[in-house]
Amino acid sequence: MSAPHGGPMSTIPPLLLERLVESLHDGVLVVDSDHRILHANPPARTLLLLPEEPVGLRMEESVADYRVSLLVDGCLSSGTAAERELSDPLDVRHILAQAVPVVDPVTSSAVEVLVILRDETRVRRLETVRRDFVANVSHELRTPVAAIQLLVETLLGGALDERAVAHEFVSRIGLEVAHMGQMVAELIELSTIESGRLSMRMEPTPVTELVAAAERLRPLADERRLQLRYEVDPTTPHVFGDGTRLGQVVRNLVHNAIKFTQPGGSITVSARRAEDDGDMVELTVTDTGCGIAADDLRRVFERFYKADRSRRREGEGSGLGLAIARHTVEAHGGRIAVESTPGRGASFVVLLPAFRGAGTMTTGRRRG
Ligand SMILES: Nc1ncnc2c1ncn2[C@@H]1O[C@H](COP(=O)(O)OP(=O)(O)O)[C@@H](O)[C@H]1O
Ligand SMILES: [Mg+2]
Repeated sequence: MSAPHGGPMSTIPPLLLERLVESLHDGVLVVDSDHRILHANPPARTLLLLPEEPVGLRMEESVADYRVSLLVDGCLSSGTAAERELSDPLDVRHILAQAVPVVDPVTSSAVEVLVILRDETRVRRLETVRRDFVANVSHELRTPVAAIQLLVETLLGGALDERAVAHEFVSRIGLEVAHMGQMVAELIELSTIESGRLSMRMEPTPVTELVAAAERLRPLADERRLQLRYEVDPTTPHVFGDGTRLGQVVRNLVHNAIKFTQPGGSITVSARRAEDDGDMVELTVTDTGCGIAADDLRRVFERFYKADRSRRREGEGSGLGLAIARHTVEAHGGRIAVESTPGRGASFVVLLPAFRGAGTMTTGRRRG
């Protein structure tokens, strides 16, 4: 049943073998014991920045990265496989090089070396994103957990017997738990959106419905002595999208506006047909709050990003709201942007596809 030991390794026709090597995603480089290049497939040529016609050239004159020569030398002298990372000093590219000796069965010395090059740049980048993500989540959870721990210890240490104090502590525990619950809900929402499993109910939705989603926050605005106003152009077309999810976007923006505006200020939610693109509806949430520094403008839509951490009050927001808003808007084929003059306020602009007329069948995704 098994192939006789030492028998022909393969009966793959040479042409097929060549095609196979040419079409590999990994780089394949074959050199002889004099470091002369016998073969280099296209990925190997790209990864090692080889000249046009590398076959026949010596590695020393064609491979810029001397570490490949060292790897081949090690492999030739030891007669065993070896591995080496070829990262550049700026950590931009990560290439894993594996050298395998091709041993002459008669002399049992290595006559050729096969170098396999794997570009791990993308994998590494994803690893970094994941590591940052875990670090961020743990950081955000640590504050409420520490607060709860302290409150519980104080309660157990005697405060339980003082009714008023106990009541206050327990309600603070409730607030912290609510904050963590909110964060967990946002994380689940974000991962659902990012994995593309989110289902949208696309239908013609009146903008007044979206604007009215902010109304639920009026008690909060009142409490902070903020004016909440609406300016809806009555000729604004319906939006084509998921009313519930878009309502959440508006609510998120208004909630932010409330958080970052000093008492006495105002928040305006407006809607109209976009001026420079009649197929789009423009929703704007403008506030007269602290605004956002130019350096932060670009980043506020990133997951967990919070501008000016020092000014942030404990337990207020996880930095996920705008990331969710951007995903939701983009899933509709829309765009979200922000403008701000620090100290004067911020203005978040959401562009969403307009519903194109009663009677026309609009099936969903728009171009772009
Ligand atoms: N209206 C606003 N005015 C000033 N800064 C804002 C406003 N909206 C958002 N930001 C900034 O963007 C950051 C990210 O917002 P968001 O993703 O909603 O997270 P969170 O509200 O949980 O902090 C906020 O922490 C804040 O620094
Ligand atoms: Mg927010």
